[in-house]
Amino acid sequence: MLKNFRVLVASVTVLLLPATALTGEDQTLKGIMQVMRQNFLDVSDGFLLDDFDKVANGALAIAEHPRIPEEEAQRVADELGPEMPVFKNFDVEVHELSLELYKAAQERDRVAALAAYQGMFAACIDCHAAFRERVAGVLGGDGCESPEETGCN
Ligand code: HEC
Repeated sequence: MLKNFRVLVASVTVLLLPATALTGEDQTLKGIMQVMRQNFLDVSDGFLLDDFDKVANGALAIAEHPRIPEEEAQRVADELGPEMPVFKNFDVEVHELSLELYKAAQERDRVAALAAYQGMFAACIDCHAAFRERVAGVLGGDGCESPEETGCN
């Protein structure tokens, strides 16, 4: 009985391992975006609740989002070609404004925090408007919906 229990515990532990590995460096761009969504919602919630610590923590998490995997970055660069610097620049903008937001929230400076928040959100949306569909198309991997789609093979 005890022996069976040990075996069960061992196999459950093994099953859980890959899930924790997902939080490591092998995140996809899409996975990173999903985490940033939650960070962004936390920031917004912080503003609504006058909770500057919540704003600061969410902003810092956005600023420190993981880099996208090298292999995905290469596929994006191949697709965007000379437009790649524009794409990167949106990321830099989000990074810099989220750090401004973090500092303003720590200083309890509502006006500066709101300005940084609005600028940061605009950069999220502007990048989506400019590139989201194309980039999602090349990163689709197995998710390619039709064989005619570019980047699907
Ligand atoms: C440099 C460009 C860029 C910036 C800046 C950017 N995104 Fe994205 N985002 C993308 C791309 C590209 C996708 C599509 C990824 C895919 O479907 O593979 C995406 C998708 C998303 C999604 C949808 C994920 C899903 O499950 O389909 C969310 C949510 C998101 N981004 C949130 C944010 C937030 C919040 C910010 C700002 C804090 C932000 N993004 C800034 C490029 C950007």
